[in-house]
Amino acid sequence: MQIPFLLSTASLLTRAVAGSCAPTFEGRIPPNATSALFSSAESPFNPKYVLGKNISWDQVISFPDVQPSILDAVAQTKPIEIKITDASIFSSSSEGPETALRRAELLVNNRPSTVSGTKTWFLSLRTSPARPLNYTHEYLLAFHEAADYQADFWSLKTGVPMTGSYGEIIGFRNASVEGGVQNWMGEGRVLYLQGYKWASPVQTFFLTPFYPDTWHNFGIYLDFNSNHLQVLYSTDNNPLHLVTPLLPNNLSGKAPTTLGETHFGIQKKPVGANLTNFLYEGEQELGVREGLLMGGISQIEGFPMGCNFSFVQIRSKAID
Ligand SMILES: *[C@@H]1O[C@H](CO)[C@@H](O)[C@H](O)[C@H]1NC(C)=O
Ligand SMILES: *[C@@H]1O[C@H](CO)[C@@H](O)[C@H](O)[C@H]1NC(C)=O
Ligand SMILES: *[C@@H]1O[C@H](CO)[C@@H](O)[C@H](O)[C@H]1NC(C)=O
Ligand SMILES: *[C@@H]1O[C@H](CO)[C@@H](O)[C@H](O)[C@H]1NC(C)=O
Ligand SMILES: *[C@@H]1O[C@H](CO)[C@@H](O)[C@H](O)[C@H]1NC(C)=O
Ligand SMILES: *[C@@H]1O[C@H](CO)[C@@H](O)[C@H](O)[C@H]1NC(C)=O
Ligand SMILES: *[C@@H]1O[C@H](CO)[C@@H](O)[C@H](O)[C@H]1NC(C)=O
Repeated sequence: MQIPFLLSTASLLTRAVAGSCAPTFEGRIPPNATSALFSSAESPFNPKYVLGKNISWDQVISFPDVQPSILDAVAQTKPIEIKITDASIFSSSSEGPETALRRAELLVNNRPSTVSGTKTWFLSLRTSPARPLNYTHEYLLAFHEAADYQADFWSLKTGVPMTGSYGEIIGFRNASVEGGVQNWMGEGRVLYLQGYKWASPVQTFFLTPFYPDTWHNFGIYLDFNSNHLQVLYSTDNNPLHLVTPLLPNNLSGKAPTTLGETHFGIQKKPVGANLTNFLYEGEQELGVREGLLMGGISQIEGFPMGCNFSFVQIRSKAID
């Protein structure tokens, strides 16, 4: 489906304000890094969270033998694989073991600059050939969680939604796949970016088939001042281009929910639970051996279209 929305290059460039394009977070991994980096104080992410109780990050991360995505190639950095098993049960001091979830999420926390102002996150995602996900479950792959942990402002997901509904679908890519994207939605084989968790209905701003063994590249522009977001996307080695207009979405709320933290990895929800009970109720099969390839995690100041990045298509006239 074409989203009926046109943007002129001029209107895009006016959004590039002073100080934009500068890096505000660097999570791309140097070629000589080992998995021990992720358990160490040198990790760009929190070295302790969010993991199964007796598990450490060096056990969770490996380095897949694939070509890096465009977001890594430009920096000569390398992709990672994040894995979950039956033991990936996080236990928090306040809520105890979250027995119905399986989690391994790289965490960017205590960094107010990454969750305020105007910022763009970049990341690439790819299926793991050896450790496929089970798309009958919903997975959170990247999200911004409120400071009080009671809401997610935006979430990139895959799998059949736990609630059974993709909510209000604002934009999707009806790519030339067998039966159209609807078949992929039915099986949960889609990547979808949703807005504020407690919106009613929840909004799906962008949805696309999760083609296997292909890099899916995202740019997520966030205006925390005016509560808007906009999505850029591409597959393979194609540069990112706009796939949504600038869309209103609750991004920050008011204290004490403002700021918060951003997660990248795997959070596998149970089946047969609902939005309010999924930490402890619902089903998880045993014998889980699943993974996800990720790369290119980084953030910049402002909107990327005026930045002369090789991985962003500058003259994006129409939303594809
Ligand atoms: C990787 O290479 C960089 C630059 O050459 C060096 O500073 C760093 O110590 C190396 N790291 C490891 C883990 O070898
Ligand atoms: C974690 O390790 C402790 C101490 O060895 C053990 O008592 C506990 O059962 C383990 N928890 C899990 C979830 O494996
Ligand atoms: C998506 O594509 C399928 C066939 O490929 C078609 O049947 C369906 O109508 C399309 N949906 C939209 C909304 O364009
Ligand atoms: C935005 O999110 C915050 C945090 O969950 C919430 O307190 C606030 O009511 C939300 N605002 C709207 C308009 O939904
Ligand atoms: C969610 O599950 C809880 C516990 O099973 C139940 O009390 C509640 O009514 C359910 N809510 C919805 C909206 O189904
Ligand atoms: C996928 O998940 C469903 C629901 O938990 C389960 O019934 C099924 O056995 C799982 N499939 C695989 C291949 O693990
Ligand atoms: C954009 O970047 C390319 C190299 O990546 C460079 O050749 C060109 O001069 C740059 N253009 C501007 C306007 O900075």
